[in-house]
Amino acid sequence: MDKIHIRGGHRLNGIIPISGAKNAALPLMIAALLTDETLKLTNIPRLTDVRTLGKLLGVLGTDVQRSEGPHGDTLALTTPEIVSTLAPYEIVSQIRATFWVLGPLLARCRTAKVSLPGGCAIGARPVDLYLKGLQKMGAEIDLVEGYVLAKAPDGLKGAVIRSPIVSVGATHTLLMAATLADGETVLENAAREPEISDVARCLVAMGAKIEGIGTSTLRIEGVERLHGATHHVVADRIEAGTYAIAAAMAGGDVTLDGVEAETFESALSVLRAAGVGVDAHQGQVRITRNGERLQATDIVTQVFPGFPTDLQAQFMALMTTAEGESEVTETIFENRFMHVQELARFGANISLHGDKALVHGVERLTAAPVMASDLRASAALVIAALAAEGETTINRVYHLDRGFDRLEEKLSACGAEIWRAKA
Ligand code: UD1
Repeated sequence: MDKIHIRGGHRLNGIIPISGAKNAALPLMIAALLTDETLKLTNIPRLTDVRTLGKLLGVLGTDVQRSEGPHGDTLALTTPEIVSTLAPYEIVSQIRATFWVLGPLLARCRTAKVSLPGGCAIGARPVDLYLKGLQKMGAEIDLVEGYVLAKAPDGLKGAVIRSPIVSVGATHTLLMAATLADGETVLENAAREPEISDVARCLVAMGAKIEGIGTSTLRIEGVERLHGATHHVVADRIEAGTYAIAAAMAGGDVTLDGVEAETFESALSVLRAAGVGVDAHQGQVRITRNGERLQATDIVTQVFPGFPTDLQAQFMALMTTAEGESEVTETIFENRFMHVQELARFGANISLHGDKALVHGVERLTAAPVMASDLRASAALVIAALAAEGETTINRVYHLDRGFDRLEEKLSACGAEIWRAKA
């Protein structure tokens, strides 16, 4: 297995191009199942999760043509017909988003058999909201040997679906299903993450009728069929936030290029409060930090537009050397503190109290061998290593490759000493 080595202590200076968002690219690819025409997606990040989903779509009947460009790949996805409605365990267990094919398969073929999902080990992550929503739309659902069997012999019907909690995945799934349902569907308490809006805009370009994009109530009037379209994937606010935190940790002057500040404003305002310089201007965000120690700052993870859970681990890494005590509260996932024990290997002082972590800032971190436990936690280890004294080795980096496009290249272009040892 590949390892990443980082020799800490270098300031970061330069420009980091932000890639297309993984969390938009995956559902956008799935949207290709809704039409027999070609969906062309530009600004696709180069990630193993994209390849894994491409494999699944191939099994279901999608022809996936990939071409490389200087700013991400272009995918042309064409599904003349769905040749299989079975999404097998071997693929769905690798990434949770593959489960979302359930919505389009059911909408287009009236039947689907999809394995229960896998993905990062960050809590129970049930799928009850997806299933209840589809049942409200007239689907019959059974759980058999680890698979969801869904049938809608008379087709899906529009319905009013109020989710008790905000779920990104359930919103994507029900939104896609509703585009081809008979009548109007209203999704109340829907997720309104920028990636949901990006998918909704693409669906509109494909002929879907959707109102309320960007709000927590989505109204979808089902149509007979959708057609092809070309869509540019929105920039990855989590990648941008990660590099903003990395620059804050290492010190220096870094410009994040090609991302709108309002998509990760909650993270930027916390960085400002901690003493980091943040200057946003037309698709660029400049992050500066001089030699001064940062101030401990509290965060509480929330659904958008609150502080994203996908930046919690990275922010905790930043707080390990801040002055004072920072309280990190995780409200979205119940088991998302696995990075705490790895950060302790660098000399961080963190104690856990239920859904809170108390980070007591220390003067400095020292390098250590560490293990990546999940996608975003791996990024936290990179951030800690950039500031730690000595050489850190990060094991199990396949997690990083799932979600960060050319991470070593982007960081070393800014002066980080980071390299990969191939297995
Ligand atoms: C998506 C993101 C992930 C992010 C998360 C929260 C993608 C590919 N993944 O994951 O990076 O961390 O949103 O912003 O976009 N829940 C239920 N029942 C359900 C569905 C969810 O109880 O049927 C709970 C989950 O256990 C969790 C919470 O709802 O506690 C939020 O999960 P959800 O928004 O669904 O996350 P994902 O879509 O899996």
